[in-house]
Amino acid sequence: MERFKMTGPCNMNLTCVIPDDEKGYELDLFCVPKHYEEDLDRVIIPHGLIMDRTERLARDIVRDMGGHHIVALCVLKGGYKFFADLLDYIKALNQNCDKSVPLTVDFIRLKSYCNDQSTNRVKVIGGDELSTLTGKNVLIVEDIVETGRTMETLLSLLSECNPKMVKVVSLLVKRTPRSSGYRPDYMGFEVPDWFLVGYALDYNEYFRDLSHICILNEKAKVKYKL
Ligand code: IMP
Ligand code: MG
Repeated sequence: MERFKMTGPCNMNLTCVIPDDEKGYELDLFCVPKHYEEDLDRVIIPHGLIMDRTERLARDIVRDMGGHHIVALCVLKGGYKFFADLLDYIKALNQNCDKSVPLTVDFIRLKSYCNDQSTNRVKVIGGDELSTLTGKNVLIVEDIVETGRTMETLLSLLSECNPKMVKVVSLLVKRTPRSSGYRPDYMGFEVPDWFLVGYALDYNEYFRDLSHICILNEKAKVKYKL
């Protein structure tokens, strides 16, 4: 499988592909919190690699949206780490480049998962009024797209408020037969059909306090099951 894939113009839709036979890294090679040592199989995307890829996504976004005021809309809770780091990189570019984008932030809280299964229902359970996004250039920041249902629901809710432009950046996109075919405008990594945790991705609220993206083991799925 190709490690890098480009399906659109410029760097849009260009993504790092993590193949199905990816072995990742032994936990002992990295620092993981003691309280999770028994729960994880392997490190799949080390924190440093997440940061390096995020830096490049920030550059691509500023290149494409530069000059316009952007409202960055964080999809909570899973998106908060990626959102914070991506915005730091965009801020650094704003401070050091000729082209810069004024940035404001908004938050929405959605829920669709129980244990390691999508529930087929996407619930808005909090956040700012979407009506404030009317006429704005909105950048939705999400942690992972799996079936695409969460993003399609959010995009349809948002379209009712008539924003000027909407782009979506997701750190991860899962290769899965359950996908609706939806692809975000910007993607960090395409990952196999595994349940991943860390870097704010959770299993029933656990593992958000883990820096690397890792595979959960089967024992942990039982241990933290609701
Ligand atoms: P979708 O609606 O099926 O695309 O799922 C998107 C949402 O499900 C994401 O925003 C996550 O909150 C959650 N999700 C999907 N896959 C994973 C995973 O592997 N780990 C943690 N959360 C996940
Ligand atoms: Mg999410």
